[in-house]
Amino acid sequence: MSKESIKLDRLPKHIAIIMDGNGRWAKEKGKFRVFGHQNGVKAVREVSEGCAELGVECLTLYAFSTENWNRPKMEVNALMTLLVKTIKGETATLMKNGIKLDAIGDRSTLPKDCLSQLDEAIEATKNNTRMTLILALSYSAKWDIVNATKTIAERAKNGEIELEEIDEELINQTLTTHKYPHPELMIRTSGELRISNFLLWEIAYSELYFTTVLWPDYRKEHLYEAILDYQSRERRFGKTSEQLA
Ligand code: FPP
Repeated sequence: MSKESIKLDRLPKHIAIIMDGNGRWAKEKGKFRVFGHQNGVKAVREVSEGCAELGVECLTLYAFSTENWNRPKMEVNALMTLLVKTIKGETATLMKNGIKLDAIGDRSTLPKDCLSQLDEAIEATKNNTRMTLILALSYSAKWDIVNATKTIAERAKNGEIELEEIDEELINQTLTTHKYPHPELMIRTSGELRISNFLLWEIAYSELYFTTVLWPDYRKEHLYEAILDYQSRERRFGKTSEQLA
């Protein structure tokens, strides 16, 4: 399995990743969980660079879920500090690689310093066109769907839209993910076989790929394996194989 076997004309435009296993990785080494998160940054760099080099247009990383706020305060604080530090430290690399940064999730719950660092990096990289790196921060798919529902209900109540106008497209346009195509490939590391409230609406027809590799050990070769596996699948979207042929 190598990079050369990847068919560049059949790349997924958008890959989404549930980065899992940082805590277990650290525990295996007799260290605190935060050590796993710190070492997860290297994997973030690897996949971002790997995707940009291949020509993947969007990469969404599940960096912090709505549910992650329930972790011990010390771990939440450490994760937020790491996020701020990483975003600040990596902005120059994003610029060098032509990567635009964006974020999805509940901005109102993010600490001020995290939000301002995030906005600064988003602003600095806004004209980059090679790839978009989307961080899901304080994000959950159900949160996004509930919010979109409220927005649509409000518009209907104000007479701005008719009930008949509520369709898939309107819902797509109202979610925080509206700027990007839906991911064709979703990857989860660490051997867990769950979606954990990530992009539920958007993965209706995504190919799912699970690996037992723990996130801090994830490297470009693992990304290539996932893409090759994706390219070996037949995507039928409800049709039969014969119809596709
Ligand atoms: C899941 O592992 C990982 C997270 C909740 C955090 C991921 C964040 C990083 C890798 C920092 C990256 C920074 C940027 C800018 C994207 P876990 O703690 O659930 O692991 P476990 O399942 O083994 O306990």
